Amino acid sequence: MKQLWTGRLEGGLDAKASALNASLPVDRRLWAQDVRGSIAWVHALRRAGLLTAEEARRIESGLTQLGEELSSGAFVFAPTDEDIHTAVERRLGELIGEPAGKLHTGRSRNDQVATDFRLWLLEAGDRIQEDVRGLQAVLVARAERDLGTVMPGYTHTQRAQPVLLSHWWLSHFWALERDAGRLEEARSRAAVCPLGSGALAGTAFPIDREALATELGFSSAAPNSIDAVSDRDFAAEFLFAAALIGIHCSRMADALILFSTAEFGFLELDDAFATGSSLMPQKKNPDLLELARGKSGRLIGLLTGLLAALKGLPSAYDKDLQEDKLPVFEAADILGAVLPVMGGLLETLSVNPEKMAAAIDDGMLATDLADYLVRKGIPFRQAHAAAGKAVRRAIEMRIGLSKMEWSEYQAIHPAFEKDLADAFRVESALSRRNALGGTAPEAVKEQLAKAKAARHA
Ligand code: ARG
Repeated sequence: MKQLWTGRLEGGLDAKASALNASLPVDRRLWAQDVRGSIAWVHALRRAGLLTAEEARRIESGLTQLGEELSSGAFVFAPTDEDIHTAVERRLGELIGEPAGKLHTGRSRNDQVATDFRLWLLEAGDRIQEDVRGLQAVLVARAERDLGTVMPGYTHTQRAQPVLLSHWWLSHFWALERDAGRLEEARSRAAVCPLGSGALAGTAFPIDREALATELGFSSAAPNSIDAVSDRDFAAEFLFAAALIGIHCSRMADALILFSTAEFGFLELDDAFATGSSLMPQKKNPDLLELARGKSGRLIGLLTGLLAALKGLPSAYDKDLQEDKLPVFEAADILGAVLPVMGGLLETLSVNPEKMAAAIDDGMLATDLADYLVRKGIPFRQAHAAAGKAVRRAIEMRIGLSKMEWSEYQAIHPAFEKDLADAFRVESALSRRNALGGTAPEAVKEQLAKAKAARHA
């Protein structure tokens, strides 16, 4: 078969130009959606009286047959198949002859590709949503398992305050909860059907677009034909949601890489989720976490690449839009690979509570020292300065804060009294942080219950 536009243009496309023009290597992944969309279009044409019952039956059975060929791998693509739409139409003609030429009545590849792409993205989004939920479930299980473990919490990668390890796991759960919400919102805007918009001006035949949208599982039909063929917001939104999921995995991965170093020793990856070195026999490397971190950069690039492609487009369909699919396919592939690995890795890693406890020093309770004075009625700014002086004094004396004589404290501030010792108990420091969202065991248990009840868990 020649190109779809023979009539106006003569002699066929230059071979090099044809290679650049073709999108089949990328958009062949849309085959199932293209067949599905075409079958729905046959029904719409039939309802509009544009096909006889016999023609509709023959076209539909031809589409079903070539769909089976595509599914089994028996479908043979031709060098002239510019894209998946061309390939499907060409094969349909071979299979059923004449009525195949009626399929494209009132339809353009512009509304067709936008429809196929949305259908694909809706399914891919649902798969990613499942993977996000799976990872959330692992984090909840981990949080439940590690309730008794205390770890040093960090800001600026410097020891800050003790927290429950469960609290830390759940901090990542909530980031993913927002991701799940974002995917769901993006889904609602993607579930709008462009089919029946023609090339840009609408279709010239009495197509029931609402019925068509419903048959394809969309929630509505796009209200403006020009917008319907131009709009790729759904792809950009999906890529943003994907990039942020990637960033969340990357941040988690980065911390886990640090925590699994010999210097920290807070956790050890299971052998099934670690790699060795070809040279150094002793190595156990966190390659999978590094890939999660590295691929998040790629996800950001895919988003910005699409945004840049969209930015200067004047109106309706422009061939630049053909560049929309690769980033979306790639982002979906990346997350489909990364999210389940993150889940397996988190599920199987072992935690070393002793190492975590040993990394909590008295300095991490300096805030509690200040809070102690606040409870005695001292304004916080004064209390902060006094606790700071105590830290400094202890450093000068080369001893821990809890080991410093009471007289030293008295010299710093008279409100320091003998009951000071309690300020240095990690358990007390934790349980005092009992307000909503805090790291006290009671508050974390409530948080855990909320996480379990959350929509996406
Ligand atoms: N392969 C094209 C794409 O992916 C299909 C639409 C072609 N439309 C056109 N007017 N040339 O965007």
